[in-house]
Amino acid sequence: VSERSAAQSGAEVLVASNRGPVSYAVGEGGALTAKRGGGGLVSGLSAIGPDTDALWVCAALGEGDREAVRRTGGALDPADTGGQRVRMLDIPAEVYADAYNGIANSVLWFVHHMLYQTPLEPVFDTEFRAQWASYEAYNTAFADALAETAAPGAAVLVQDYHLALVPGLLRERRPDLRIAHFSHTPWAPADYFAMLPDDIQRKLVTGILGADRANFLTRHWARAFMDCCQWALGPECEAHRPREKDAYLVSTWLTPRKTRIGVHGLGADGEFLRERAHRPDVGERLTALREQIGRTGGTDRKTIVRVDRTELSKNIVRGLLAYRRLLADRPEWRERVVHLAFAYPSRQDLAVYREYTAQVGRLAEEINAEYGTAGWQPVVLHVKDDFARSLAAYRLADVALVNPIRDGMNLVAKEVPVVSDRGCALVLSRGAGAYWELGEDAIVVNPYDINATAEALHTALSMDDTERSERTARLAAAATALPPAQWFLDQLRALKED
Ligand code: G6P
Repeated sequence: VSERSAAQSGAEVLVASNRGPVSYAVGEGGALTAKRGGGGLVSGLSAIGPDTDALWVCAALGEGDREAVRRTGGALDPADTGGQRVRMLDIPAEVYADAYNGIANSVLWFVHHMLYQTPLEPVFDTEFRAQWASYEAYNTAFADALAETAAPGAAVLVQDYHLALVPGLLRERRPDLRIAHFSHTPWAPADYFAMLPDDIQRKLVTGILGADRANFLTRHWARAFMDCCQWALGPECEAHRPREKDAYLVSTWLTPRKTRIGVHGLGADGEFLRERAHRPDVGERLTALREQIGRTGGTDRKTIVRVDRTELSKNIVRGLLAYRRLLADRPEWRERVVHLAFAYPSRQDLAVYREYTAQVGRLAEEINAEYGTAGWQPVVLHVKDDFARSLAAYRLADVALVNPIRDGMNLVAKEVPVVSDRGCALVLSRGAGAYWELGEDAIVVNPYDINATAEALHTALSMDDTERSERTARLAAAATALPPAQWFLDQLRALKED
């Protein structure tokens, strides 16, 4: 243990995020099993291991992780992490719960994805203040661990809304470091961000402005961040927007250095996906799915595929309502199409997520009861996270439905065109970051408009083969323009050069 911990101090490149590359569960007889985490952040960062020798600092998410920290002293076994050096922090469970569930996922996630529903939300009261204190403690624990482990002048890449205060806190402890922050989410428009208590707005933006570089997935989110800095800091903040495409500058006397704003649009890992999608386990899932989909009149049924965490921002309920509208308004598709909806439960500690998960299940059942026949199940809903089955669905997809209300990027939109066997029409929300890169070859929808989404599904299903395969080829090229390893190295280079 001590040898491994010692090997982790003096790191030249560090990555910090709430969720690490693996999470542990305690199995029978006390054995620990490691499982790769979901979500765009882990997908993006998982490619860094072999290229950089970076040390990844993350939090223990639950009891299994805490046990792993007890057994290893926090320096995880590289056999579990695909060779990646990982240090896991055991933050007290109550502090962690308030920081992660209370502030990060119920406040910051909701603000950036614009998910609040008046008249009840948001509530900024005494309980919120107590949770905020935990969020500060949790960010401080990360800043302390990073300050302890980083070599002189090291590069530290801090990830996401969970750790918005870390750049500022780390700067106070270690002015010698090069620090970047990356937002994997959208950034809220200033008018929406302004609902946060004034002192919290300031702390969030000055926290990130503690970094040398604040990076975003699209120019759209970067601009929103700059607007929020100006809104929250007023004349203390001066934003320069030079003409070059991605070199926005924000400076403020609160942080006497300038913070550069960067845009790095994470792409799909085409090489990995193509190879992975043709392994035998995916082949088995393909056969099973084909059986569930069935054939009609001697031809394969068409498929509309979605794969998401069951997440409010992903807009799964409106997606199902649009599919129901399609079956109602366009009866020619009945019996001829199946909606493969993969919705993997997420953040189940939050009641609103549990309710949403139940709502998705109910709606799928309703549609099946309304329209299903002896040989045809209109919606095939899968809720057990299975990467091989997701890939099998990608391969089968005639249409991919990606209709989030807001989404930092949305990697599913980028992965399906790369993997699909016959070419796939992409119905894409203009609220997804991916829209800015893929919009031209997708069928773009307003995610709130159920009827327009139904019509887009019809257009997508009706697209002729030539057009579909031409569009898919262009989508796949755009989607893989910046693969994860390159995405990471670009940020590292920019941070060192600035
Ligand atoms: C999004 C966030 C990530 C997060 C992921 C999964 O992609 O940007 O930071 O890890 O969702 O969410 P979870 O709460 O399970 O980590």
